[in-house]
Amino acid sequence: MDKRNYAIWLILLVVMATGMTRAESVNKSASEGLFWSTAKEEADLLRKADPEESPPLLNERDEYDGGFSSLDGMLQWAIGHSDPEKLKATAKDVQHLSPDELKKRQIEVKELMEKLKMPSDAQLMQIAIDDLNNQSLPVEDRHRALKELLILVEPIDNANDLHKLGGLSIIIRELDNTDPETRTTSAWILGKASQNNPVVQKQVLELGGLPKLMKMVKSSFVEEAIKAMYAVSALIGNNSDGQELFYAEAGDLILQELLSDSSADIRLRRKSVFLVAALVECQLETRSKAELPFFSNRLFLKSVVDLTASTDLDLQEKALVAIKNLLKLNTTEALVFRDFCGLDGALKRMRQQLQQLMADENWRDFAMDLDTLRREVELIFHGKLDKVTQVPT
Ligand SMILES: *[C@@H]1O[C@H](CO)[C@@H](O)[C@H](O)[C@H]1NC(C)=O
Ligand SMILES: *[C@@H]1O[C@H](CO)[C@@H](O)[C@H](O)[C@H]1NC(C)=O
Ligand SMILES: *[C@@H]1O[C@H](CO)[C@@H](O)[C@H](O)[C@H]1NC(C)=O
Repeated sequence: MDKRNYAIWLILLVVMATGMTRAESVNKSASEGLFWSTAKEEADLLRKADPEESPPLLNERDEYDGGFSSLDGMLQWAIGHSDPEKLKATAKDVQHLSPDELKKRQIEVKELMEKLKMPSDAQLMQIAIDDLNNQSLPVEDRHRALKELLILVEPIDNANDLHKLGGLSIIIRELDNTDPETRTTSAWILGKASQNNPVVQKQVLELGGLPKLMKMVKSSFVEEAIKAMYAVSALIGNNSDGQELFYAEAGDLILQELLSDSSADIRLRRKSVFLVAALVECQLETRSKAELPFFSNRLFLKSVVDLTASTDLDLQEKALVAIKNLLKLNTTEALVFRDFCGLDGALKRMRQQLQQLMADENWRDFAMDLDTLRREVELIFHGKLDKVTQVPT
């Protein structure tokens, strides 16, 4: 039995000892067997952790904190990877135990755990990394190792350990793998590990991860492109070195292409415009630095304004935030927004659409919030416009 199997075995003892009512919430799609994982089960895991189910990219770490540091996290994991029927039966058995018997069981488990030593997260990461390095392992096992790392790097301490364990260079190497799924999960891991983490951001940048990820953003495999964009955002978010490199590698052009390509995947376009807003925000905060000409490029500005005509409300909202930030930049011109981008017309169209939406009870709150943002943009826009259209005295 390897360390992973010990871990799961121990967890199940705890499950029994605590009379796990949580068995009721067992993931319906979990497959048979009590072992750490199989490729099939990992597919469930991947779905569960999909960031698309939750709010925007720059906050993803908050959404998925946990990993295996806590026993509770391990329990959730074990339950998700166990046979629901067996768990239910066990839970029933345990309910018949008296408090004394239960207590005795718990003490036994505790002693066992101390004797056998639960593998640490670092050990689990090392196992996964070794698996990735083992070229004679079949591809399914390598996928599994990557997905384990995806979960393990969520706690910031684990993310910080990844490089020490030799994991970062290997995952960056896997970005060049011929297998799209391997590339996709590798990008995802890098994004998770570097999210709001300057230490890992620096390491990945130094190891040359960013240019590879930027290339992947243009992949024809949609999932690969999305995860790569997520990782790029995580890598350069609030990181000036990362942003410099991003611009040096023509990241601005990549963004502009995505924004103006209406056939591009909607999630990718949302992530792109969200990144634009974040980059401009950084620009506004670091006033000392020269503003980038890219942000005042009229074609670029128009491609952002045009997004307000999208049928996707989420994209509209993100576009509004980006426009708001762009308007605040010194280098953007109010007249370009008015005459070249048609911002006035765009904001009016949006108002009409939102008013219709407000009539629908299900949408009212959302529409009102979005309209507040829209009005804010209008105000900033007209303020900026007044400065240049005032008749000189
Ligand atoms: C690589 O994997 C094979 C097949 O599972 C295994 O027999 C071998 O021991 C592994 N090698 C290393 C260095 O772990
Ligand atoms: C951005 O980075 C700076 C230091 O590089 C840090 O002081 C600041 O808190 C960070 N801001 C956010 C929002 O993470
Ligand atoms: C914008 O321009 C004005 C005048 O040219 C200057 O005083 C101000 O510092 C600039 N603001 C920023 C954020 O660069």
